[in-house]
Amino acid sequence: MTSTRWYAHDMTTARDVLITCVGLNFGPNPETRIDEIRESRYRTGKNVVRQLKISATDVVADIGSGCGFVTRAAAEIAIETHCIDVSKEFLDYTRYELSDIKNVHFHHVDYAKFPIADESLDKIFSTAVFIHFYYYDFLFNLIEVNRVLKPGGSFYVEIVDADVLDLDNVKAIKSHMIDYRNTLRSSKQGGARPRFIQPFSLTAFRHLSQQLGFEMVWVEHVSNVAQIVVRKVRGPQLPEWLAAVV
Ligand SMILES: C[S@@+](CC[C@H](N)C(=O)[O-])C[C@H]1O[C@@H](n2cnc3c(N)ncnc32)[C@H](O)[C@@H]1O
Repeated sequence: MTSTRWYAHDMTTARDVLITCVGLNFGPNPETRIDEIRESRYRTGKNVVRQLKISATDVVADIGSGCGFVTRAAAEIAIETHCIDVSKEFLDYTRYELSDIKNVHFHHVDYAKFPIADESLDKIFSTAVFIHFYYYDFLFNLIEVNRVLKPGGSFYVEIVDADVLDLDNVKAIKSHMIDYRNTLRSSKQGGARPRFIQPFSLTAFRHLSQQLGFEMVWVEHVSNVAQIVVRKVRGPQLPEWLAAVV
C-alpha cells in the first residue's frame, strides 16, 4: 500500500486520526510519515500473528482496530477478520486501508458490546487500546471477549504494567506524565481531554482474567508495556450481582 492511497481528503482529519492512533511518536505531522507509521504498526501486527499463531483457518477480531495497520498482518492470513471500533472515523479509515483484503468485516460498536455470535472466534487481539483502560473497562471487555471466543481460543492484549513502573525509567514515563499534568491543567480552562495512558497492574490483570475464565499463557515486557496472551478455559461464571449489571 503506498502513501498516495489516503482515506481523508483533508489533512487535518487525517492528522487528527493519526495522532489519536500513534500519539506524537512520529512528530506533530504524522501524515507526512504515513509509510513509516504503517510499517511500524504492521511489524506490531506480525508480532501478534506470531504470538497468537494465527493460521489460515482462524476467524479473528481486532478490538480497537484504529487505522487497520496492525489488523493487516492478521487479515492477510486469517480466513475471516472482524474490525471492531467505537469510532466511525477510524472504521472508515480501516475500511479504506484494508480494501484490498477479502473477508474483512467492520463493526461500529457500543462500549463492550460486539455484534458477534457466542463462541465464534478463534483469536482476538487488541493493541494500544487497553493501555487507556480502567479496571471496569477491563472487566466489561474481558467478559465480552470471553463470550465471543471459542473454548481454547486466545486473546492478545497490551497493558502499561503498573507493577514495573519506575521513576528511573525516564523514557517510558516522562512524556505520559507531562501530558497528563498539562491536559488536566488545560481542561480546567476548557481544553479538550484526550484518553490518557492508564497504567494497570499485571498482577490485577492476571487475577481478573482468571476470575473471568482465562489463563495467562504468555507475557513479555517491552520496557513497561506488558504484551500478554490469555487462553479461554471456561465461561466467565459471573456472580449473580455482576451478571445482572453487564
Ligand atoms: C490508539 S488507537 C490503536 C489502534 C490500533 N489498534 C493500533 O495498535 O495501531 C485506539 C483505537 O481503539 C479504539 N477504541 C477505544 N476504546 C475502545 C473500546 N472500548 N472498544 C473498541 N475500540 C475502542 C479507538 O477508537 C481507536 O481506534
